[in-house]
Amino acid sequence: MIKIAQKTEQTLEHKTECLILACVEEKKPAGTLKKLNDTLAGAIGNAFENKRFSGKPEQTLLLNSPGKASNLLLVGIGKSKDVTAEKVCRAAATAAKLAEQSKFKSISADLGVFETVAKGQGGVYGELASAVAEGAGLALYRFENYKSKNDKDDPPSRVEKLTLLTPSKSRQAATEKAIVRAEKIVDAVHTARDLISHPGNTVTPTYLAEHAKKIARKNKLTCKVLGKKEMEKLGMGSLLGVAQGSDQPPALIVLEYKGAAKNKAPTAIVGKGITFDTGGISLKPGNSMDEMKMDMSGAATTLATLQLVSSMKLKANVVGIVAAAENMPGGGAIKPGDILKSMSGKTIEVLNTDAEGRLVLADALTYAQRFKPKEVIDLATLTGAVLHALGHHAAAVVGTNPAMIEKLKDAGDATGERVWELPLWEEFEKGTKSEIADLKNIASPGFGAGTIMGAAFLKAFAGEQPWTHIDIAGTAWGFDRPYTNKGPSGYGVRLLLRYLEKGR
Ligand code: BES
Ligand code: ZN
Ligand code: ZN
Repeated sequence: MIKIAQKTEQTLEHKTECLILACVEEKKPAGTLKKLNDTLAGAIGNAFENKRFSGKPEQTLLLNSPGKASNLLLVGIGKSKDVTAEKVCRAAATAAKLAEQSKFKSISADLGVFETVAKGQGGVYGELASAVAEGAGLALYRFENYKSKNDKDDPPSRVEKLTLLTPSKSRQAATEKAIVRAEKIVDAVHTARDLISHPGNTVTPTYLAEHAKKIARKNKLTCKVLGKKEMEKLGMGSLLGVAQGSDQPPALIVLEYKGAAKNKAPTAIVGKGITFDTGGISLKPGNSMDEMKMDMSGAATTLATLQLVSSMKLKANVVGIVAAAENMPGGGAIKPGDILKSMSGKTIEVLNTDAEGRLVLADALTYAQRFKPKEVIDLATLTGAVLHALGHHAAAVVGTNPAMIEKLKDAGDATGERVWELPLWEEFEKGTKSEIADLKNIASPGFGAGTIMGAAFLKAFAGEQPWTHIDIAGTAWGFDRPYTNKGPSGYGVRLLLRYLEKGR
Protein backbone atom coordinates (compact mmCIF):
# COMPACT_ATOMS: atom_id res chain seq x y z
CA MET A 1 0.00 0.00 0.00
CA ILE A 2 1.13 3.56 -0.67
CA LYS A 3 2.35 5.67 2.25
CA ILE A 4 -0.11 8.38 3.31
CA ALA A 5 0.91 11.39 5.39
CA GLN A 6 -0.52 14.80 6.19
CA LYS A 7 0.98 18.29 6.12
CA THR A 8 -0.52 21.58 7.19
CA GLU A 9 0.61 24.23 4.74
CA GLN A 10 -0.75 26.87 2.39
CA THR A 11 -1.60 25.38 -0.99
CA LEU A 12 0.65 27.75 -2.95
CA GLU A 13 3.57 27.16 -0.56
CA HIS A 14 3.54 23.37 -0.92
CA LYS A 15 6.40 21.84 -2.85
CA THR A 16 5.54 18.64 -4.72
CA GLU A 17 5.88 16.83 -8.06
CA CYS A 18 2.16 16.76 -8.48
CA LEU A 19 -0.57 18.61 -6.60
CA ILE A 20 -4.06 17.19 -6.95
CA LEU A 21 -6.83 19.76 -6.57
CA ALA A 22 -10.40 18.55 -6.25
CA CYS A 23 -12.61 21.11 -7.97
CA VAL A 24 -16.33 21.72 -7.62
CA GLU A 25 -18.19 22.40 -10.85
CA GLU A 26 -18.02 26.08 -11.73
CA LYS A 27 -18.37 28.43 -14.72
CA LYS A 28 -14.91 29.92 -14.26
CA PRO A 29 -11.95 29.41 -11.91
CA ALA A 30 -12.70 30.62 -8.37
CA GLY A 31 -10.83 30.62 -5.03
CA THR A 32 -7.52 28.77 -5.15
CA LEU A 33 -8.00 28.01 -8.84
CA LYS A 34 -8.25 31.72 -9.58
CA LYS A 35 -4.97 32.37 -7.78
CA LEU A 36 -3.29 29.51 -9.61
CA ASN A 37 -4.72 30.73 -12.88
CA ASP A 38 -2.84 33.99 -12.41
CA THR A 39 0.49 32.20 -11.92
CA LEU A 40 -0.24 30.07 -14.99
CA ALA A 41 -0.88 32.95 -17.37
CA GLY A 42 -4.58 32.07 -17.59
CA ALA A 43 -4.15 28.39 -18.56
CA ILE A 44 -6.93 27.22 -16.22
CA GLY A 45 -9.36 29.91 -17.35
CA ASN A 46 -8.56 28.93 -20.90
CA ALA A 47 -9.47 25.29 -20.20
CA PHE A 48 -12.79 26.45 -18.72
CA GLU A 49 -13.48 28.65 -21.74
CA ASN A 50 -12.71 25.83 -24.16
CA LYS A 51 -14.86 23.43 -22.14
CA ARG A 52 -11.91 21.16 -21.48
CA PHE A 53 -12.52 21.42 -17.75
CA SER A 54 -15.32 22.67 -15.54
CA GLY A 55 -15.16 20.40 -12.46
CA LYS A 56 -17.68 17.79 -13.62
CA PRO A 57 -17.27 14.48 -11.73
CA GLU A 58 -14.02 12.70 -12.61
CA GLN A 59 -13.01 15.23 -15.29
CA THR A 60 -9.25 15.83 -15.17
CA LEU A 61 -6.79 18.49 -16.29
CA LEU A 62 -3.04 18.07 -15.93
CA LEU A 63 -0.96 21.23 -16.18
CA ASN A 64 2.70 21.99 -15.90
CA SER A 65 3.24 24.74 -13.35
CA PRO A 66 6.00 27.25 -12.58
CA GLY A 67 4.98 27.31 -8.88
CA LYS A 68 6.14 25.25 -5.91
CA ALA A 69 4.11 22.35 -7.27
CA SER A 70 5.66 21.42 -10.59
CA ASN A 71 2.44 19.91 -11.89
CA LEU A 72 -1.19 20.54 -11.09
CA LEU A 73 -3.77 17.85 -11.52
CA LEU A 74 -7.31 19.20 -11.36
CA VAL A 75 -10.06 16.65 -10.84
CA GLY A 76 -13.78 17.36 -10.80
CA ILE A 77 -16.11 16.44 -7.94
CA GLY A 78 -19.31 17.95 -9.41
CA LYS A 79 -21.66 20.59 -8.00
CA SER A 80 -20.79 21.74 -4.49
CA LYS A 81 -24.20 20.87 -3.00
CA ASP A 82 -24.07 17.33 -4.45
CA VAL A 83 -20.61 16.32 -3.22
CA THR A 84 -20.58 12.91 -1.51
CA ALA A 85 -17.81 10.74 -0.12
CA GLU A 86 -18.32 8.30 -3.00
CA LYS A 87 -17.82 11.07 -5.59
CA VAL A 88 -14.67 12.21 -3.81
CA CYS A 89 -13.44 8.62 -3.62
CA ARG A 90 -13.94 8.23 -7.38
CA ALA A 91 -12.24 11.54 -8.12
CA ALA A 92 -9.24 10.73 -5.93
CA ALA A 93 -8.94 7.32 -7.58
CA THR A 94 -9.10 8.82 -11.08
CA ALA A 95 -6.44 11.39 -10.17
CA ALA A 96 -4.18 8.82 -8.50
CA LYS A 97 -4.29 6.55 -11.56
CA LEU A 98 -3.55 9.46 -13.90
CA ALA A 99 -0.68 10.56 -11.65
CA GLU A 100 0.77 7.07 -11.78
CA GLN A 101 0.44 6.90 -15.57
CA SER A 102 2.20 10.27 -15.68
CA LYS A 103 5.05 8.67 -13.73
CA PHE A 104 4.82 10.78 -10.58
CA LYS A 105 6.20 9.01 -7.53
CA SER A 106 5.11 11.30 -4.77
CA ILE A 107 1.82 13.16 -5.00
CA SER A 108 -0.15 15.56 -2.81
CA ALA A 109 -3.85 16.24 -2.55
CA ASP A 110 -5.16 19.59 -1.36
CA LEU A 111 -8.05 19.23 1.09
CA GLY A 112 -8.92 22.96 1.15
CA VAL A 113 -12.01 22.55 -0.99
CA PHE A 114 -13.58 20.16 1.53
CA GLU A 115 -13.51 22.83 4.19
CA THR A 116 -15.77 24.94 2.00
CA VAL A 117 -17.91 21.99 0.94
CA ALA A 118 -18.29 20.77 4.51
CA LYS A 119 -19.25 24.30 5.65
CA GLY A 120 -17.64 23.90 9.01
CA GLN A 121 -19.10 20.48 9.85
CA GLY A 122 -16.01 18.61 11.09
CA GLY A 123 -17.53 15.15 10.58
CA VAL A 124 -18.20 15.72 6.94
CA TYR A 125 -14.74 17.18 6.37
CA GLY A 126 -13.25 14.04 7.94
CA GLU A 127 -15.39 11.76 5.83
CA LEU A 128 -14.34 13.53 2.63
CA ALA A 129 -10.68 13.57 3.65
CA SER A 130 -10.88 9.85 4.33
CA ALA A 131 -12.51 9.32 0.93
CA VAL A 132 -9.49 10.97 -0.74
CA ALA A 133 -7.06 8.59 0.95
CA GLU A 134 -9.37 5.62 0.40
CA GLY A 135 -9.86 6.34 -3.30
CA ALA A 136 -6.14 6.77 -3.98
CA GLY A 137 -5.15 3.78 -1.84
CA LEU A 138 -7.68 1.47 -3.47
CA ALA A 139 -6.98 2.68 -7.01
CA LEU A 140 -3.27 1.95 -6.76
CA TYR A 141 -3.75 -1.71 -5.76
CA ARG A 142 -1.34 -4.16 -7.37
CA PHE A 143 -1.07 -7.91 -7.12
CA GLU A 144 2.43 -8.96 -8.13
CA ASN A 145 3.08 -12.02 -5.96
CA TYR A 146 3.75 -14.26 -8.94
CA LYS A 147 5.86 -11.89 -11.09
CA SER A 148 9.56 -12.68 -10.95
CA LYS A 149 11.82 -9.72 -10.39
CA ASN A 150 13.76 -10.05 -13.67
CA ASP A 151 11.53 -7.48 -15.33
CA LYS A 152 14.08 -4.82 -14.27
CA ASP A 153 14.72 -3.30 -17.70
CA ASP A 154 11.47 -1.46 -17.70
CA PRO A 155 10.04 -1.40 -14.19
CA PRO A 156 6.58 0.19 -14.12
CA SER A 157 6.44 3.57 -12.42
CA ARG A 158 4.60 3.61 -9.10
CA VAL A 159 3.13 6.30 -6.91
CA GLU A 160 4.70 5.60 -3.54
CA LYS A 161 3.49 8.44 -1.37
CA LEU A 162 0.42 10.60 -0.96
CA THR A 163 0.50 13.73 1.17
CA LEU A 164 -2.81 15.19 2.26
CA LEU A 165 -2.55 18.94 2.49
CA THR A 166 -4.58 20.20 5.46
CA PRO A 167 -6.00 23.70 4.99
CA SER A 168 -5.70 24.86 8.62
CA LYS A 169 -4.24 23.80 11.98
CA SER A 170 -7.77 23.29 13.30
CA ARG A 171 -8.36 20.51 10.76
CA GLN A 172 -5.09 18.69 11.38
CA ALA A 173 -6.48 16.19 13.89
CA ALA A 174 -9.41 15.42 11.60
CA THR A 175 -7.06 14.75 8.67
CA GLU A 176 -4.88 12.49 10.79
CA LYS A 177 -7.91 10.53 11.94
CA ALA A 178 -9.14 10.25 8.36
CA ILE A 179 -5.80 8.81 7.25
CA VAL A 180 -5.83 6.16 9.98
CA ARG A 181 -9.40 5.20 9.04
CA ALA A 182 -8.66 5.05 5.32
CA GLU A 183 -5.52 2.97 5.85
CA LYS A 184 -7.49 0.38 7.79
CA ILE A 185 -10.19 0.24 5.12
CA VAL A 186 -7.71 -0.01 2.24
CA ASP A 187 -5.75 -2.66 4.10
CA ALA A 188 -8.87 -4.77 4.65
CA VAL A 189 -10.11 -4.42 1.06
CA HIS A 190 -6.65 -5.43 -0.12
CA THR A 191 -6.70 -8.47 2.18
CA ALA A 192 -9.84 -9.57 0.34
CA ARG A 193 -8.45 -8.71 -3.11
CA ASP A 194 -5.22 -10.62 -2.43
CA LEU A 195 -7.08 -13.72 -1.27
CA ILE A 196 -9.23 -13.64 -4.41
CA SER A 197 -6.28 -12.96 -6.74
CA HIS A 198 -4.28 -15.96 -5.57
CA PRO A 199 -4.93 -19.03 -7.71
CA GLY A 200 -6.72 -22.13 -6.51
CA ASN A 201 -3.48 -24.05 -6.01
CA THR A 202 -2.44 -21.50 -3.38
CA VAL A 203 -5.74 -20.63 -1.75
CA THR A 204 -7.17 -23.94 -0.59
CA PRO A 205 -9.61 -24.33 2.33
CA THR A 206 -6.57 -25.01 4.54
CA TYR A 207 -4.91 -21.78 3.33
CA LEU A 208 -8.06 -19.80 4.13
CA ALA A 209 -8.11 -21.31 7.62
CA GLU A 210 -4.44 -20.48 8.20
CA HIS A 211 -4.99 -16.97 6.90
CA ALA A 212 -7.96 -16.52 9.23
CA LYS A 213 -5.75 -17.54 12.15
CA LYS A 214 -3.18 -14.96 11.08
CA ILE A 215 -5.86 -12.25 10.95
CA ALA A 216 -7.07 -13.36 14.38
CA ARG A 217 -3.57 -13.14 15.91
CA LYS A 218 -2.95 -9.67 14.49
CA ASN A 219 -6.36 -8.27 15.39
CA LYS A 220 -7.39 -9.73 18.72
CA LEU A 221 -10.08 -11.97 17.31
CA THR A 222 -10.81 -15.51 18.33
CA CYS A 223 -10.53 -18.08 15.59
CA LYS A 224 -11.81 -21.63 15.51
CA VAL A 225 -11.46 -24.01 12.59
CA LEU A 226 -13.58 -27.14 12.26
CA GLY A 227 -12.07 -29.90 10.13
CA LYS A 228 -13.66 -32.90 8.46
CA LYS A 229 -13.90 -34.94 11.69
CA GLU A 230 -15.70 -32.21 13.63
CA MET A 231 -18.02 -31.64 10.70
CA GLU A 232 -18.85 -35.33 10.62
CA LYS A 233 -19.69 -35.21 14.32
CA LEU A 234 -22.01 -32.27 13.74
CA GLY A 235 -23.67 -34.00 10.80
CA MET A 236 -22.67 -31.42 8.21
CA GLY A 237 -23.47 -33.78 5.35
CA SER A 238 -24.21 -30.97 2.94
CA LEU A 239 -20.84 -29.21 3.25
CA LEU A 240 -19.00 -32.54 3.39
CA GLY A 241 -20.85 -33.72 0.30
CA VAL A 242 -19.37 -30.87 -1.75
CA ALA A 243 -15.87 -31.52 -0.39
CA GLN A 244 -15.86 -35.26 -1.07
CA GLY A 245 -14.88 -34.96 -4.73
CA SER A 246 -11.65 -33.16 -3.83
CA ASP A 247 -8.34 -34.16 -2.24
CA GLN A 248 -8.39 -30.86 -0.35
CA PRO A 249 -9.99 -31.19 3.08
CA PRO A 250 -12.80 -28.70 3.83
CA ALA A 251 -12.76 -26.16 6.67
CA LEU A 252 -15.41 -24.31 8.59
CA ILE A 253 -13.76 -21.14 9.83
CA VAL A 254 -15.16 -19.05 12.67
CA LEU A 255 -13.81 -15.60 13.59
CA GLU A 256 -15.35 -13.84 16.56
CA TYR A 257 -15.11 -10.16 17.41
CA LYS A 258 -16.50 -8.74 20.61
CA GLY A 259 -16.61 -4.98 20.62
CA ALA A 260 -19.84 -4.64 22.61
CA ALA A 261 -21.22 -6.14 25.83
CA LYS A 262 -20.64 -9.91 25.97
CA ASN A 263 -24.34 -10.70 26.16
CA LYS A 264 -25.27 -8.60 23.13
CA ALA A 265 -26.39 -10.80 20.25
CA PRO A 266 -23.90 -10.62 17.36
CA THR A 267 -24.34 -9.99 13.67
CA ALA A 268 -23.31 -13.17 11.89
CA ILE A 269 -21.61 -12.86 8.50
CA VAL A 270 -21.44 -16.09 6.54
CA GLY A 271 -19.22 -16.40 3.47
CA LYS A 272 -19.10 -18.91 0.60
CA GLY A 273 -15.54 -20.20 0.38
CA ILE A 274 -15.36 -22.47 -2.66
CA THR A 275 -11.65 -22.16 -3.37
CA PHE A 276 -12.21 -23.52 -6.86
CA ASP A 277 -15.47 -24.39 -8.56
CA THR A 278 -15.10 -26.84 -11.43
CA GLY A 279 -18.82 -27.56 -11.18
CA GLY A 280 -18.05 -31.08 -9.94
CA ILE A 281 -19.62 -33.93 -11.92
CA SER A 282 -21.94 -31.30 -13.48
CA LEU A 283 -18.68 -29.97 -14.93
CA LYS A 284 -18.44 -26.38 -16.08
CA PRO A 285 -17.36 -25.61 -19.67
CA GLY A 286 -13.63 -24.98 -20.09
CA ASN A 287 -13.97 -21.38 -21.27
CA SER A 288 -12.92 -19.01 -18.49
CA MET A 289 -13.09 -21.74 -15.88
CA ASP A 290 -9.94 -20.18 -14.39
CA GLU A 291 -12.15 -17.36 -13.10
CA MET A 292 -13.70 -19.81 -10.67
CA LYS A 293 -10.74 -19.24 -8.35
CA MET A 294 -12.84 -16.25 -7.25
CA ASP A 295 -15.62 -18.47 -5.89
CA MET A 296 -14.29 -17.83 -2.39
CA SER A 297 -14.95 -14.07 -2.62
CA GLY A 298 -17.70 -14.26 0.02
CA ALA A 299 -15.18 -15.88 2.34
CA ALA A 300 -12.56 -13.22 1.53
CA THR A 301 -15.04 -10.43 2.27
CA THR A 302 -16.07 -12.09 5.52
CA LEU A 303 -12.48 -12.45 6.76
CA ALA A 304 -11.56 -8.93 5.66
CA THR A 305 -14.64 -7.45 7.33
CA LEU A 306 -13.77 -9.15 10.63
CA GLN A 307 -10.22 -7.79 10.29
CA LEU A 308 -11.61 -4.32 9.67
CA VAL A 309 -14.21 -4.12 12.46
CA SER A 310 -11.59 -5.33 14.89
CA SER A 311 -8.87 -2.92 13.72
CA MET A 312 -11.43 -0.10 13.97
CA LYS A 313 -12.60 -1.23 17.41
CA LEU A 314 -16.21 -1.06 16.31
CA LYS A 315 -18.71 -1.15 19.17
CA ALA A 316 -20.48 -4.27 17.98
CA ASN A 317 -20.30 -8.03 18.25
CA VAL A 318 -19.66 -9.73 14.95
CA VAL A 319 -19.04 -13.35 14.10
CA GLY A 320 -17.70 -14.40 10.71
CA ILE A 321 -18.29 -17.93 9.45
CA VAL A 322 -16.65 -19.27 6.31
CA ALA A 323 -17.64 -22.52 4.63
CA ALA A 324 -14.53 -23.54 2.71
CA ALA A 325 -14.28 -26.45 0.27
CA GLU A 326 -13.11 -27.22 -3.24
CA ASN A 327 -15.70 -28.41 -5.79
CA MET A 328 -14.00 -31.14 -7.83
CA PRO A 329 -15.21 -34.09 -9.89
CA GLY A 330 -13.02 -36.70 -8.15
CA GLY A 331 -13.89 -40.39 -7.91
CA GLY A 332 -15.66 -39.86 -4.61
CA ALA A 333 -17.60 -36.81 -5.77
CA ILE A 334 -21.35 -36.41 -5.27
CA LYS A 335 -23.42 -37.16 -8.35
CA PRO A 336 -26.65 -35.68 -9.67
CA GLY A 337 -29.45 -37.45 -7.84
CA ASP A 338 -27.48 -38.03 -4.63
CA ILE A 339 -29.23 -37.08 -1.42
CA LEU A 340 -27.35 -35.38 1.39
CA LYS A 341 -28.41 -34.89 5.00
CA SER A 342 -27.63 -31.42 6.29
CA MET A 343 -26.76 -30.43 9.86
CA SER A 344 -30.27 -29.02 10.24
CA GLY A 345 -31.67 -32.50 9.63
CA LYS A 346 -33.18 -31.46 6.30
CA THR A 347 -32.36 -33.72 3.35
CA ILE A 348 -31.23 -32.30 0.00
CA GLU A 349 -31.49 -33.88 -3.42
CA VAL A 350 -28.46 -32.73 -5.44
CA LEU A 351 -29.70 -32.31 -8.97
CA ASN A 352 -26.73 -30.26 -10.12
CA THR A 353 -23.34 -30.49 -8.41
CA ASP A 354 -22.50 -27.02 -9.76
CA ALA A 355 -25.07 -25.49 -7.39
CA GLU A 356 -22.61 -26.24 -4.58
CA GLY A 357 -22.48 -22.84 -2.89
CA ARG A 358 -25.93 -23.25 -1.37
CA LEU A 359 -24.91 -26.70 -0.13
CA VAL A 360 -21.91 -25.48 1.84
CA LEU A 361 -23.81 -22.42 3.04
CA ALA A 362 -26.72 -24.54 4.28
CA ASP A 363 -24.56 -26.07 7.00
CA ALA A 364 -22.71 -22.83 7.72
CA LEU A 365 -26.05 -21.03 8.22
CA THR A 366 -27.23 -23.77 10.57
CA TYR A 367 -23.95 -23.53 12.48
CA ALA A 368 -24.45 -19.75 12.77
CA GLN A 369 -27.54 -20.42 14.91
CA ARG A 370 -25.19 -21.46 17.74
CA PHE A 371 -24.27 -17.82 18.23
CA LYS A 372 -27.92 -16.78 18.65
CA PRO A 373 -27.32 -13.94 16.19
CA LYS A 374 -29.59 -10.90 16.05
CA GLU A 375 -29.21 -10.98 12.27
CA VAL A 376 -27.43 -13.02 9.62
CA ILE A 377 -25.90 -11.76 6.38
CA ASP A 378 -24.48 -14.22 3.89
CA LEU A 379 -22.21 -13.26 1.01
CA ALA A 380 -21.76 -15.60 -1.90
CA THR A 381 -20.75 -15.75 -5.55
CA LEU A 382 -23.84 -17.92 -5.84
CA THR A 383 -25.30 -17.57 -9.32
CA GLY A 384 -24.27 -16.62 -12.82
CA ALA A 385 -27.85 -15.40 -13.18
CA VAL A 386 -27.10 -12.30 -11.11
CA LEU A 387 -24.83 -11.17 -13.95
CA HIS A 388 -27.81 -11.29 -16.31
CA ALA A 389 -29.90 -9.26 -13.91
CA LEU A 390 -27.44 -6.62 -12.74
CA GLY A 391 -24.19 -7.07 -14.63
CA HIS A 392 -21.14 -6.03 -12.65
CA HIS A 393 -22.93 -2.96 -11.27
CA ALA A 394 -24.71 -4.12 -8.13
CA ALA A 395 -25.10 -7.18 -5.94
CA ALA A 396 -28.53 -8.76 -5.55
CA VAL A 397 -30.04 -8.88 -2.06
CA VAL A 398 -32.82 -11.20 -1.01
CA GLY A 399 -33.98 -11.50 2.57
CA THR A 400 -36.63 -11.76 5.20
CA ASN A 401 -36.46 -8.36 6.86
CA PRO A 402 -37.32 -5.14 4.96
CA ALA A 403 -35.61 -2.86 7.51
CA MET A 404 -32.36 -4.78 7.19
CA ILE A 405 -32.49 -4.58 3.39
CA GLU A 406 -33.27 -0.85 3.55
CA LYS A 407 -30.21 -0.33 5.72
CA LEU A 408 -28.05 -2.35 3.34
CA LYS A 409 -29.33 -0.25 0.43
CA ASP A 410 -28.39 2.96 2.26
CA ALA A 411 -24.94 1.56 3.02
CA GLY A 412 -24.61 0.55 -0.64
CA ASP A 413 -25.54 4.00 -1.90
CA ALA A 414 -23.16 5.68 0.54
CA THR A 415 -20.17 3.50 -0.33
CA GLY A 416 -20.92 2.93 -4.02
CA GLU A 417 -21.10 -0.82 -3.31
CA ARG A 418 -24.69 -0.89 -4.47
CA VAL A 419 -27.25 -3.61 -3.76
CA TRP A 420 -30.54 -4.26 -5.53
CA GLU A 421 -33.41 -6.21 -3.97
CA LEU A 422 -35.10 -9.21 -5.59
CA PRO A 423 -38.35 -10.65 -4.15
CA LEU A 424 -38.74 -13.86 -2.17
CA TRP A 425 -42.36 -14.81 -2.83
CA GLU A 426 -43.68 -18.13 -1.62
CA GLU A 427 -43.85 -19.50 -5.17
CA PHE A 428 -40.07 -19.47 -5.16
CA GLU A 429 -39.83 -21.34 -1.89
CA LYS A 430 -42.25 -23.96 -3.22
CA GLY A 431 -39.93 -24.40 -6.20
CA THR A 432 -37.18 -25.70 -3.89
CA LYS A 433 -39.23 -28.71 -2.69
CA SER A 434 -38.00 -32.10 -3.88
CA GLU A 435 -40.12 -35.11 -4.83
CA ILE A 436 -38.08 -37.51 -2.73
CA ALA A 437 -36.13 -35.34 -0.26
CA ASP A 438 -36.97 -32.17 1.69
CA LEU A 439 -35.28 -29.85 -0.77
CA LYS A 440 -33.61 -29.96 -4.16
CA ASN A 441 -30.61 -27.79 -4.92
CA ILE A 442 -31.90 -26.49 -8.26
CA ALA A 443 -35.40 -25.72 -9.47
CA SER A 444 -37.16 -27.64 -12.22
CA PRO A 445 -36.05 -26.91 -15.78
CA GLY A 446 -37.54 -23.68 -17.07
CA PHE A 447 -38.37 -22.32 -13.62
CA GLY A 448 -35.95 -19.42 -14.13
CA ALA A 449 -35.23 -16.84 -11.41
CA GLY A 450 -31.81 -18.39 -10.78
CA THR A 451 -30.60 -15.86 -8.25
CA ILE A 452 -33.83 -15.89 -6.24
CA MET A 453 -33.92 -19.69 -6.26
CA GLY A 454 -30.46 -19.78 -4.70
CA ALA A 455 -31.75 -17.50 -1.96
CA ALA A 456 -35.01 -19.44 -1.55
CA PHE A 457 -32.97 -22.57 -0.89
CA LEU A 458 -30.79 -20.80 1.68
CA LYS A 459 -33.82 -19.43 3.53
CA ALA A 460 -34.63 -22.99 4.65
CA PHE A 461 -31.44 -22.87 6.76
CA ALA A 462 -31.31 -19.21 7.74
CA GLY A 463 -33.19 -19.40 11.05
CA GLU A 464 -35.95 -17.16 12.38
CA GLN A 465 -33.96 -13.96 12.97
CA PRO A 466 -33.63 -11.36 10.19
CA TRP A 467 -31.50 -12.72 7.36
CA THR A 468 -30.22 -11.26 4.10
CA HIS A 469 -28.41 -13.05 1.30
CA ILE A 470 -26.07 -11.00 -0.91
CA ASP A 471 -25.21 -12.53 -4.29
CA ILE A 472 -21.85 -11.06 -5.25
CA ALA A 473 -21.14 -13.22 -8.34
CA GLY A 474 -21.24 -10.08 -10.52
CA THR A 475 -19.51 -7.60 -8.23
CA ALA A 476 -16.69 -9.60 -6.66
CA TRP A 477 -14.84 -9.50 -9.97
CA GLY A 478 -14.89 -6.79 -12.64
CA PHE A 479 -16.84 -4.27 -10.53
CA ASP A 480 -16.04 -1.24 -12.64
CA ARG A 481 -15.09 1.79 -10.55
CA PRO A 482 -12.17 4.24 -10.72
CA TYR A 483 -10.99 2.73 -7.41
CA THR A 484 -11.05 -0.87 -8.69
CA ASN A 485 -9.30 -2.54 -11.58
CA LYS A 486 -10.31 -5.38 -13.86
CA GLY A 487 -9.74 -8.08 -11.24
CA PRO A 488 -11.14 -8.68 -7.77
CA SER A 489 -12.87 -5.70 -6.23
CA GLY A 490 -13.06 -6.63 -2.57
CA TYR A 491 -16.74 -5.69 -2.92
CA GLY A 492 -18.66 -5.95 0.33
CA VAL A 493 -16.02 -4.90 2.85
CA ARG A 494 -16.83 -1.18 2.70
CA LEU A 495 -20.55 -1.97 2.41
CA LEU A 496 -20.57 -4.09 5.55
CA LEU A 497 -18.41 -1.65 7.51
CA ARG A 498 -20.89 1.11 6.76
CA TYR A 499 -23.80 -1.19 7.60
CA LEU A 500 -22.29 -2.24 10.93
CA GLU A 501 -21.25 1.31 11.82
CA LYS A 502 -24.84 2.45 11.56
CA GLY A 503 -25.83 0.11 14.42
CA ARG A 504 -29.35 -0.99 15.19
N1 BES B 1 -19.83 -20.21 -8.58
C1 BES B 1 -20.93 -20.33 -9.44
C2 BES B 1 -21.60 -18.99 -9.76
C3 BES B 1 -20.77 -17.97 -10.48
C4 BES B 1 -20.94 -17.78 -11.84
C5 BES B 1 -19.90 -17.16 -9.81
C6 BES B 1 -20.22 -16.82 -12.51
C7 BES B 1 -19.17 -16.20 -10.47
C8 BES B 1 -19.34 -16.01 -11.81
C9 BES B 1 -22.01 -21.25 -8.82
O1 BES B 1 -21.54 -22.22 -7.97
C10 BES B 1 -22.73 -21.90 -9.93
O2 BES B 1 -22.12 -22.60 -10.68
N2 BES B 1 -24.02 -21.66 -10.02
C11 BES B 1 -24.83 -22.22 -11.04
C12 BES B 1 -26.16 -22.56 -10.43
C13 BES B 1 -27.03 -23.39 -11.31
C14 BES B 1 -26.44 -24.77 -11.51
C15 BES B 1 -28.40 -23.49 -10.69
C16 BES B 1 -24.98 -21.18 -12.15
O3 BES B 1 -25.05 -20.00 -11.86
O4 BES B 1 -25.00 -21.58 -13.31
ZN1 ZN C 1 -20.97 -24.01 -9.01
ZN1 ZN D 1 -19.73 -21.80 -7.03
